[in-house]
Amino acid sequence: MTVPFVRAKARAAALPLGAVDHSVPLYLGAHYWWAYVHPKAVKLFERQWLVNLILWGNYARLRDAALTEFGDGVSGRTLQVACVYGDLTNRLGRQAASGGGAVDVIDVLPIQLKNLREKLAKDAPVRLLAMDSTDLRLPDASYDRALIFFLLHEQPHHFRERTLSEVLRVVKPGGKIVIVDYALPRWWHPLRYLWRPVLARLEPFALDLWRREIADWLPATFANRRLRHGSFFGGLYQKVVVTR
Ligand SMILES: C[S@@+](CC[C@H](N)C(=O)[O-])C[C@H]1O[C@@H](n2cnc3c(N)ncnc32)[C@H](O)[C@@H]1O
Repeated sequence: MTVPFVRAKARAAALPLGAVDHSVPLYLGAHYWWAYVHPKAVKLFERQWLVNLILWGNYARLRDAALTEFGDGVSGRTLQVACVYGDLTNRLGRQAASGGGAVDVIDVLPIQLKNLREKLAKDAPVRLLAMDSTDLRLPDASYDRALIFFLLHEQPHHFRERTLSEVLRVVKPGGKIVIVDYALPRWWHPLRYLWRPVLARLEPFALDLWRREIADWLPATFANRRLRHGSFFGGLYQKVVVTR
């Protein structure tokens, strides 16, 4: 099926002239302008305490759960798929520095890359690349590992599938792909009932991750592989580790 890579132009009317990059994917311009696209959004959300609040106090726990998968000294090449508010990339950069490795971060929004550049340690072995996760202009099997932190729930399912397929393509056989994102909370979790309408209103594709397993969006050749799965905060968050 052809993936509808429609680019956002419609949002331009709702934002100041010049604030929209016309290569912004439609879902991002339409549903996440308030979080990532608008310059005031970047200024507002680049506060770790705020992101931590949105994650119900779990930012550090989820960040560390992802980063410990890679070990202390990270050698070789690591791909971070999309920018993340807070100190995650600086920490990943430090792990890479101590292991003699290097990190590439891709993001489709120049404003996000600029924000990351400003908060990154000057000597961090981190390269920033303007790129769409669904169309990585990177060679096959060129990374030792990859991290996808809270990106998949933002993407409509065709884009989510394309992101996973692209990341699997660029990671070497045997490399780890660590995914952290939302999941269906347990039946007893109050947020299963309270958070659902909030997500439905603000993050329209997020509930896909409550209804289906991340494995469902992996390319068919990986569908039957055993993935390692971790659950956090009563199931509201998950970590999935795919070995390429
Ligand atoms: C990783 S997600 C959310 C992370 C988390 N909520 C946080 O703490 O920041 C947000 C990032 O994904 C980026 N993004 C969304 N769709 C993308 C795509 N198709 N390709 C590359 N980056 C994308 C956005 O530009 C934004 O910088």
